[in-house]
Amino acid sequence: MFPGSFDPLTNGHLDLVDRALAVFDRVRLAILQNSEKQPLFSVEERLALLRAALGGRPRVELDTFSGLLVDYARKAGASVIIRGIRAVSDFEYEFQMALMNRQLEPRIETVFLMPAGRYTYVSSRLVKEVARLGGRVSELVPPVVERQLAKKLRSRRKG
Ligand code: PNS
Repeated sequence: MFPGSFDPLTNGHLDLVDRALAVFDRVRLAILQNSEKQPLFSVEERLALLRAALGGRPRVELDTFSGLLVDYARKAGASVIIRGIRAVSDFEYEFQMALMNRQLEPRIETVFLMPAGRYTYVSSRLVKEVARLGGRVSELVPPVVERQLAKKLRSRRKG
């Protein structure tokens, strides 16, 4: 189970999916619904972007979830939660979350994977900021995300 906001999917996420596929038989990306964060893309739009970017990978499943991650993971029969660690700064929050999830469901392990070095600075938040301010994000996100990001920001500026 690879949970996240995926708002939007980045090349760093894709790198982690491929690393996870090298270790696990199946990987399910699960998009959190009803997050406290105000997302740029709706959950349906994020799912469509994941489908477009990952549709060719046969061992990948896509879904959305709400409520506690461990409840969803248990129901889905997942035994491992995958999270990416880019830098030490990610560690504290991820460590807390992993231990809280273990407290809630001791049978599910969290496994941390590190993306390729070239993605250690890539985050959905910074991708959105750079795109909003007119910067180039073509090396940071899949082409379909780049297109939809430009479209979304254009429609936001008009609206
Ligand atoms: O991509 P993100 O925003 O870093 O992903 C965070 C996510 C979705 C993994 C986390 O917020 C989550 O699992 N939320 C579900 C609610 C939950 O289980 N909270 C307790 C976690 S300790």
